Amino acid sequence: MTDTKKRSWAEPFKIKMVEPLRMISREQRAKALAEAGYNTFLLRSDDVYIDLLTDSGTNAMSDRQWAGLMLGDEAYAGSRNFYNLEAKVRQYYGYKHLVPTHQGRGAEHLISRVLIKPGDVIPGNMYFTTTRLHQELAGGTFVDVIIDEAHDTTSTHPFKGDVDLGKLAAVIESHGAVKIPYVSVAATVNMAGGQPISLANLRQVRDLARKHGIKVVLDATRAMENAYFIKRQEKGNERRTMADILLELCSCTDACTMSAKKDLLVNIGGFLAMNDDALFEEARNLVVVFEGLHTYGGLAGRDMEAMAIGIEEAIDEEHMKARIGQVEYVGQGLLDAGIPIVVPVGGHAIFLDARKFLPHLTQDEFPAQRLAAELYLESGIRSMERGIVSAGRNKETGKHNYPKLELVRLTFPRRVYTQAHCDVLVESVVEVFRRREKIGGLKMVYEPKYLRFFQARFEPL
Ligand code: F0G
Repeated sequence: MTDTKKRSWAEPFKIKMVEPLRMISREQRAKALAEAGYNTFLLRSDDVYIDLLTDSGTNAMSDRQWAGLMLGDEAYAGSRNFYNLEAKVRQYYGYKHLVPTHQGRGAEHLISRVLIKPGDVIPGNMYFTTTRLHQELAGGTFVDVIIDEAHDTTSTHPFKGDVDLGKLAAVIESHGAVKIPYVSVAATVNMAGGQPISLANLRQVRDLARKHGIKVVLDATRAMENAYFIKRQEKGNERRTMADILLELCSCTDACTMSAKKDLLVNIGGFLAMNDDALFEEARNLVVVFEGLHTYGGLAGRDMEAMAIGIEEAIDEEHMKARIGQVEYVGQGLLDAGIPIVVPVGGHAIFLDARKFLPHLTQDEFPAQRLAAELYLESGIRSMERGIVSAGRNKETGKHNYPKLELVRLTFPRRVYTQAHCDVLVESVVEVFRRREKIGGLKMVYEPKYLRFFQARFEPL
């Protein structure tokens, strides 16, 4: 064998257009942070150096997608781009009907309104902020039925997004199937660290739900990333294409909500898709009230075209290998430096374990919020709290929800940053880790009513 040398591997694209980055001084960052109430959502993007707030709508589109924008058919009704998108959704996701929406939460709003009655219970593999809020606004209560390993940042279970079938059966048993409009399944699970669900588990969820006449609704926002993990690490799927796996994932469910701003490599867009004709009928009627006509759902024709092209680019395995490979590269760098992160590294982000990073702070002192602020101060890198602030308050008692996971998310926009940016990131986190003992907590001085993490303000204790 001659092939003993390590051969490096690189991104499957080259850069045609650049956007300059600027780093403001430490004094300016301290000022910007104070003005933003120690909330990274309230920083101005111009004051950020490397923006890892989210992978949502922050992707770089390809030359084909930009060309697609020029093919926008901006008709109010029956745009050509809608039919292109519908064909691609049918081909790759397999659902019969498509209802476009301006983004994911638009789809969540519609499906929650159509399916949930006051007093209903919706079990799911960990909550997502907007998904749960729409379920609650429709009168439902979300119940977490994810496996215990998902709440343990050190468990190396390969499918931490799996549903605990015992917990699901117990929810059905105690509330009765009539109170459960659907099981809410996410692939991958954002709040658990971008962790995938296995096909074997989803098949079992489908079987259990069907037995009781309960629907399964998939959050397909990052389902292509999930398909990649299944191909790579679920036995028996190694030789299948990602496209084939995605189709099977979706076929285990009755409908999906989609934020196209993630997997589909665009800056705006989403959809609801389903097989059931009656459900489609109702959703198509409601979309007109809240989003726009059923052939544009709040989007421009050009946006739908970019989504349709994005579907084909995102399902490409070389793309996904680069995408997830970049996240794993940073993960390995941080692990090598002894930084506490959620393992295994998930699809879209690295999650710093703020409890372990700042063990001297109590959860009421908002350790993840502070850590995100501190990373910005150190290096101009923007991340996001995913802990007690994101978890909000209990709907009945009004008390803080105390999630087990107190995390800071470093989220990777697709096709945007290079490996050199990744190196700067790792060095910056290590720098904050070195001075962690001197970092204090925060107090919340302003709290909005809904999704408080977006707009809450803090001051140092
Ligand atoms: N579902 C998941 C799993 C998500 O991650 C998001 C958005 C949504 C639904 C809602 O979609 O933003 O298009 O309305 N997540 C973003 C994030 C905001 O940063 O994780 P949307």
